[in-house]
Amino acid sequence: MQIRKAVIPAAGLGTRFLPATKAIPKEMIPIIDKPMIQYIVEECVDAGIRDIILVSAEGKESIENHFGRSAGLEEFLRSKGKFDLLKIVERVSSMANIITVHQKSPMGLGHAVLTARAAVGNEPFAVLLGDDLIDAPVPCIRQLTQVFERHGTSVIGVMEVPREDVSKYGIVSGKKISDRLINVDLMVEKPDPASSPSRYACPGRYVLTPKIFDLLEKTKPGKSGEIQLTDALALLAAGEGLLAYLFEGTRYDTGDKLGYLEATAAFALKRPDLAPEARRILARLLES
Ligand code: G1P
Repeated sequence: MQIRKAVIPAAGLGTRFLPATKAIPKEMIPIIDKPMIQYIVEECVDAGIRDIILVSAEGKESIENHFGRSAGLEEFLRSKGKFDLLKIVERVSSMANIITVHQKSPMGLGHAVLTARAAVGNEPFAVLLGDDLIDAPVPCIRQLTQVFERHGTSVIGVMEVPREDVSKYGIVSGKKISDRLINVDLMVEKPDPASSPSRYACPGRYVLTPKIFDLLEKTKPGKSGEIQLTDALALLAAGEGLLAYLFEGTRYDTGDKLGYLEATAAFALKRPDLAPEARRILARLLES
């Protein structure tokens, strides 16, 4: 079955980026000239997913505005003959259907996903977390929808991380059934390195059956007193089944200050219009 809908939780307060996030949602902070959330929406669109359910909160209106029409701006660009920019602006507002649902209290990622239940309905869907940018030849979420189309089982993207980093992620373990595919039997949220069942970490890409909503309804607050998606995924693994796919691509943790810096440099070096000068600037900074 084709995946048509994606849920993007964007209700967090972005405290790791204060004071920048005092008045601006962290999702609107740009990497070069594009807000981070646009990279995530583009990943969906490149995977054929156009219905985006944004789990939003108070003070996040600028995200919706970003994906809405900017008639005044368009008119201005047209009158000045700036058609390249006009094309860029028009594309942002036409690339996806953004449906906003509001998470009324910050009760965790699991609760945010559950908030999208009515908008998703009874069909499989994708979840993408906005702090993780994944640069890949085939969009990471497309890699997962392909696995889902083949197996009909919920699947999450995983990558191998150093043992000292496992406490930052949901960690899965299970039996490898092919080079990149694991049949998950256990999933734990942010385990201690010493007791972690593996080093396979989930950086925020999921394709899930609607069964997850029933499980989230039953999930009690877990780690940090929040309703954890990971806890419901562990129940899914024990029941209907859960796969983990070692995706191809480079992941940037843009929710972290140095990860953000790395992503900015990496994306500048990939842009033909910026790369030569960016390379010179970075080399000069390293020399001084
Ligand atoms: C969330 C999830 C965690 C996942 C991580 C990826 O944690 O709870 O399972 O591995 O995102 O970024 P957070 O980083 O929001 O604390």
